[in-house]
Amino acid sequence: MINISLRLQTVASLIPDNSYVIDVGCDHALLSIYLVQTLKHIKVIASDINPNPLKIARENIKKYNLEKKIEVREEDGIKNLNKDVDTIVIAGMGGILISKILSEKNGLKNIKRIVVSPNNDYPLVRKTLNNLGFMIHTEKIILDKRKPYLVILAIPGKASNPDYFFGTLNNKSLETIYYYTNLLHTNTNILKELPKKYLIKRLKLKLENKKIKKFLLTNHD
Ligand SMILES: C[S@@+](CC[C@H](N)C(=O)[O-])C[C@H]1O[C@@H](n2cnc3c(N)ncnc32)[C@H](O)[C@@H]1O
Repeated sequence: MINISLRLQTVASLIPDNSYVIDVGCDHALLSIYLVQTLKHIKVIASDINPNPLKIARENIKKYNLEKKIEVREEDGIKNLNKDVDTIVIAGMGGILISKILSEKNGLKNIKRIVVSPNNDYPLVRKTLNNLGFMIHTEKIILDKRKPYLVILAIPGKASNPDYFFGTLNNKSLETIYYYTNLLHTNTNILKELPKKYLIKRLKLKLENKKIKKFLLTNHD
């Protein structure tokens, strides 16, 4: 069995068997391999825009004898999405790139779920999902080697009053407390350095800090 990070295991945990998955930006195809090794009836396309990681992806797939189970494609995002694919996974990229990739496809009507793990710009990703007609079903913050990562599962639907800043992270798990405490420190440090003329950016950070403090002080349990 292939060894993958806790972050990728968390992504995998949100994908049910019998799905037809495209792993966009598969890099060395670790997630794709793990999925076909752990789920009996899953179909997986491992795709990447870059031929170099795909070369290693092919070698890894061969090493585990999975050439017949994983289709490898060199392509940009999901522009040429196969119509039978029902699950899009995009992990380990910036939120702006994830949002761009998702928005480039005209219509996602056959898609039953989108699993994303953005490195940053979480509010933008949540907003993009909402604009594309997907509501957040599950969000998890996990600590992998002491670094926090967000993993989101979105399904077709409209959230009534979406909160792009917190998403559905209203639980006070150790991981969410850790994540928001870190964000508060980062924002505070940026504010110390940011010249006064960056008024809008300063206001945004102050507002975020206010929300985070309220979150950390409120008893949610
Ligand atoms: C940091 S790796 C993440 C790999 C893996 N998904 C993970 O979470 O560990 C990002 C990968 O996305 C690929 N990528 C970047 N832009 C892409 C695009 N528009 N379409 C497909 N792949 C892309 C890169 O070539 C790279 O292999």
